Amino acid sequence: MSGVEITIEKLDKSFGTLQVLENIDLHVGAGEFLAIVGKSGCGKSTLLRTIAGLESVSGGDISFNSIPVKGVQDTTRMMFQDARLLPWKDVLTNVRVGNSDRAKAEAALSNVGLLDKSDEWPGVLSGGQKQRVSLARALAGDPKLILFDEPLGALDALTRIEMQQLIEELWKQQGFTSILVTHDVGEAIILADRVILIEDGGIALDVRVDLPRPRARDSKFTEYETMILDRILEKKGGESA
Ligand SMILES: Nc1ncnc2c1ncn2[C@@H]1O[C@H](COP(=O)(O)OP(=O)(O)OP(=O)(O)O)[C@@H](O)[C@H]1O
Ligand SMILES: [Mg+2]
Repeated sequence: MSGVEITIEKLDKSFGTLQVLENIDLHVGAGEFLAIVGKSGCGKSTLLRTIAGLESVSGGDISFNSIPVKGVQDTTRMMFQDARLLPWKDVLTNVRVGNSDRAKAEAALSNVGLLDKSDEWPGVLSGGQKQRVSLARALAGDPKLILFDEPLGALDALTRIEMQQLIEELWKQQGFTSILVTHDVGEAIILADRVILIEDGGIALDVRVDLPRPRARDSKFTEYETMILDRILEKKGGESA
């Protein structure tokens, strides 16, 4: 199974008089792992929700595999900072929400290492386990695109590293296209083939991360991190001056 190829042309998105995204052109290759960074309120989630079809565009076009799309596509899944599990349904039933196939749900739970928790209530799971269930729910739909909006933002550092490794492993294994919004530039560089920075409604930086996987936090890694952080901070400094 391969990922979807995404082409975004001249995308505008406004809420009333507030223009959040302006004239965005972006191409994401099939199976690519793209990370989106940028300061709070710059429009990262808006871009993700627009690609998900949860927000309509104010102008421009979005195509999947060269076919213009509108609205939610059934091969797209999203993952958020909160796991969004139904507390009154057991783990397996939660994974089957939106993907009724039991065998696929079980396979997905097994892929995230939680098949033995199938019959548990979400309430007894740790934060990291809840996010694994949420990831399993995304995987159970055989996604061609997973949109991650700060999925690891609430996790402790160690759990976060484990989840990053799991996401990378499953992405390599299953080939879906991934778009990850994160505040953590290091996380973006650990996971993504390419990092874009959103600023003033547009793409201010588009960097290909040319490092072997799995990535180590070595000097090359730090070079990328410093370059992107400097670019973000330079802008912030400029604004407050
Ligand atoms: N449904 C909405 N109606 C009105 N304004 C909105 C709506 N959604 C987002 N906005 C505004 O659009 C801008 C971008 O919001 P968005 O949530 O995309 O930012 P973000 O980059 O994801 O921020 P954060 O890093 O804090 O999550 C903000 O000014 C926000 O207030
Ligand atoms: Mg956001």
